[in-house]
Amino acid sequence: MLEKRDRILTGDRPTGKLHIGHYFGSLQNRVKLQGKYETFIEVADVQALTDNFNHPEKVKKNVNEIVMDELAVGIDPNKATIFLQSMIPEIAELTVFYSNLVTIARLERNPTVKTEIAQKREIFGESVTYGFLGYPVSQAADITVFDGTIVPVGEDQLPLIEQCREIVRKFNSIYGETLYLPKAVVGDNKRIKGLDGNEKMGKSLGNAIYLSDSDEEIARKVMSAVTDPGRIKKDDLGNPDICMVSYYHKLFGKDPKEIEEIEKECREGKRGCVACKKQLIKNIIEVLEPIRERRRYYEERPEEVKEILMEGTKHAQKIAKETMKRVKEAMKLDYFA
Ligand code: TRP
Repeated sequence: MLEKRDRILTGDRPTGKLHIGHYFGSLQNRVKLQGKYETFIEVADVQALTDNFNHPEKVKKNVNEIVMDELAVGIDPNKATIFLQSMIPEIAELTVFYSNLVTIARLERNPTVKTEIAQKREIFGESVTYGFLGYPVSQAADITVFDGTIVPVGEDQLPLIEQCREIVRKFNSIYGETLYLPKAVVGDNKRIKGLDGNEKMGKSLGNAIYLSDSDEEIARKVMSAVTDPGRIKKDDLGNPDICMVSYYHKLFGKDPKEIEEIEKECREGKRGCVACKKQLIKNIIEVLEPIRERRRYYEERPEEVKEILMEGTKHAQKIAKETMKRVKEAMKLDYFA
């Protein structure tokens, strides 16, 4: 029997900077949990290559950005291990072993993968690559090689965690109790809408506020946010339920009374959209300023960032080796041990 214990494993694809959707969706949760459980945060550069194989320089550049974003939101390198996926060969090895336990039909049915393939026609054309179709298998290896049991992710990742659980169950039933069964933990704010009202905030959708945006960028983006289209003049009665500015006030406002007041004045046509947006800009800057300040600290100290990632990777390598030994024993691959 496996000894009972919990460990956090989560990760990000280094394909762009992190935005406030990531912040409310999963980063805040990570920061909160890092003191409670042993925490591993993977910079998933190998996974990023599955749909960026022709842009290796983009992946490389964003590794640093992601690490700085993590540190900026308050991930503490003394509490959490930040590491690089490509430096853990055991993940690739485990992916091969797991690939026997998954059918192609099951991968093709994975809702997240299905949606992504549909969105990436320009990369894959008519037929998707083996690597991309199989990335849930590799993600199962990411999680289990570190004995991750708690996986804080955004809602879109749930089918991937479910697929990982299936692999774990199948592995354990064939080779004996070897792997820990992970569980997804979704933050309170499951999915953050974009400034344009789109259900999802995303880099490719151009509707995101980044953690590293300047005051001017934040102001420009908020000024262009979608408000109640029925409200043309300031004293028209507004409907905050269909206004993105009101939606963001709820995320960024510290005082519930202020939020209530804003909505009331909007409904009564007493508060204009411009005043409302200005207030929001101020509130967003207030929340992001400490994050940006920490980010600036690390931007000025690239050696320190590199050191954190290197130390984290070393620690992760040790853990992965230990798990691999257990896995190989279970699979009767322990020849020269
Ligand atoms: N697929 C995740 C995303 O796109 C990133 C990721 C890679 C991940 N490996 C992971 C998340 C392991 C959780 C656990 O955001």
